[in-house]
Amino acid sequence: MQSAGESHQGHPEGAGGGTPAGDSGHRTAAVIPAAGRGIRLGPGAPKALRALSGTPMLVHAVRAMARSRAVSLVVVVAPPDGADEVRRLLDEHTGPAETSTDIVVVPGGETRQDSVRLGLAALPDDVDSVLVHDAARPLVPVETVDAVAAAVREGAPAVVPALPVSDTVKEVQVRGNGEAEPVTGTPERSRLRAVQTPQGFELKVLAAAHAQVVREGDGATDDAGMVERLGVEVVVVPGHDEAFKVTRPLDLVLAEAVLARRRATDGF
Ligand code: C5P
Repeated sequence: MQSAGESHQGHPEGAGGGTPAGDSGHRTAAVIPAAGRGIRLGPGAPKALRALSGTPMLVHAVRAMARSRAVSLVVVVAPPDGADEVRRLLDEHTGPAETSTDIVVVPGGETRQDSVRLGLAALPDDVDSVLVHDAARPLVPVETVDAVAAAVREGAPAVVPALPVSDTVKEVQVRGNGEAEPVTGTPERSRLRAVQTPQGFELKVLAAAHAQVVREGDGATDDAGMVERLGVEVVVVPGHDEAFKVTRPLDLVLAEAVLARRRATDGF
């Protein structure tokens, strides 16, 4: 693993969607925001550092990005006081598949948005497109990563993987404290999508979106939301059930079950 500034050869051949990275001259990096506390998961270490099958969630997420032949650099955004620990963990856990990908660790910020911006600031000038992937989605399959990377390489400025929603969604007047909340609307379910990561962008588009947020002080819960505000088209590609976000204790049970099934079926 490298620290910021050091570099070595990325994947020697090939890229997501079958486009060779070297031939296209297009360089894709991944930024993994991993600086959240993960309070909804209960007390303990920062969420990204909690273990799934004995391996920190963040390591699974880094592997998922490094496995894509489109990705030659991964920037991990660590908890502000945890960059050294994260660097140590990655050194301990990354093997041959990951060592052909540059991995850089930088300290994160107060909000996810701040953390992504700090990750983008660590990217070298020759990066053309970027995948932003939550450490909290450790099990995203490489096919989903490749599909998002390929769509950006093929010319889409902003691409998000998403799934149709199975629950009907209500809009409410937020009250909190367990109070009954009046319903203000029911969007048509067939037009709704639940958005996942990695979200892929032309780097200059995402950088402009983050710069606008800094200027105007208005946030969004995902990167694509910021790009939409710029008036740039965002497109949705199929997401994957296994790209779910580990947020609550039950999600850990599901993640362990997915890993057990992978071990049983392909020895992963
Ligand atoms: O809190 P939430 O689950 O929405 O976080 C999504 C991702 O953003 C997680 O991977 C988390 O570690 C990251 N994050 C961050 N910096 C923060 C807050 C969240 O990198 N200040």
